[in-house]
Amino acid sequence: MAQESYSNLLVFGASGTVGGLVALAAHERGAKIWLAMRDTSKAIKAIPNDVEKAGNFVRIQADLTDPTSVANAVAHSGAKAAFIYLVLAASDHQRASLKALRDGGVENIVFLSSLGVKVEGAALRAIPPSKLMWFRNAQVEIAIEDLAFPHFTALRPASFASNYINAGLDRSSTPPKATIIFEDAQADNIAPEDIAGVGAVVLLTPPTAGKTTLYLSNTAAETRTAKDSWALIKQITGRADIDTTPTSPEAWVQKVVAQGMPEAFPRFYLGVLDDSKRGLVGPEYEAGAANIRKYLGREPMGFVEYLEKHKVEWQNI
Ligand SMILES: NC(=O)c1ccc[n+]([C@@H]2O[C@H](COP(=O)([O-])OP(=O)(O)OC[C@H]3O[C@@H](n4cnc5c(N)ncnc54)[C@H](OP(=O)(O)O)[C@@H]3O)[C@@H](O)[C@H]2O)c1
Repeated sequence: MAQESYSNLLVFGASGTVGGLVALAAHERGAKIWLAMRDTSKAIKAIPNDVEKAGNFVRIQADLTDPTSVANAVAHSGAKAAFIYLVLAASDHQRASLKALRDGGVENIVFLSSLGVKVEGAALRAIPPSKLMWFRNAQVEIAIEDLAFPHFTALRPASFASNYINAGLDRSSTPPKATIIFEDAQADNIAPEDIAGVGAVVLLTPPTAGKTTLYLSNTAAETRTAKDSWALIKQITGRADIDTTPTSPEAWVQKVVAQGMPEAFPRFYLGVLDDSKRGLVGPEYEAGAANIRKYLGREPMGFVEYLEKHKVEWQNI
């Protein structure tokens, strides 16, 4: 039987790091892209304005906490494949919006989950709420499984190379201050371009009928401590001025809570960082790099190459 393929795609999170790159990569492979956004006037950092204008892109309003808007977007676009994100604000783990996608005719769904969700089946359903982010991602995966989309790919990436310039940097300080909680925490620094590249491939052509889980990570040789990653950032981007003095775990928790985050989230993240000090091992990491080779036909992007590619963004901070 010929493999299913889709060329009219609904991409949520277009204004975000991975979603924007999924849209761009799928467009480069010839697809029409409906950029599903809560606010369609927002800038899309991954897609240059001239590329968006000249290309086969259409912005469409949709909010994953609002099933009616999702139903409208599917009906209007006629898309049968959709890329979606975890939305913590959705109290029903996005079930109503997912149902709107399925009832509207979406057959192929790609969900940006997380490598921390390491299990399937009964074990996936047994992840307790105390495992915060793993639980939340698992609940969306379960909702998609329950709705029986013909094709479902769960992308489970490791630690994004973009974390340092996003949540990892306090731009309100002069000079900007790196958020380093444990200098010896380790990360693989997978490039969002690689996550999105695989996402685009499976959005266009789902790997199998039913569910496919794809771990995504950089190679073991790319695993670095926070201290070493920040030293490279400073060296390659020329931003030697960035303050890389570590922040105490408690000071960081208090800061994040003061910004409105429930305390359980930073506490959960501290546990994840603490675990990473023992190294990034496990079959998920091996499968992760192999999946990039399999779906993109090349090695995962190294952190140095990633930083070279994003140098200007660092210089413009
Ligand atoms: N960072 C990591 O190391 C890591 C590792 C594994 C997995 N992940 C997962 O990756 C995701 C973050 O990816 P990212 O860095 O690409 O995120 P991002 O840049 O923060 O983008 C998030 C996107 O989601 C959109 N969004 C938020 N609420 C929405 C809603 N109600 N309806 C529709 N769209 C909505 C945002 O749109 P607006 O512009 O409207 O806000 C934005 O486009 C998280 O789910 C995280 O758990 C991250």
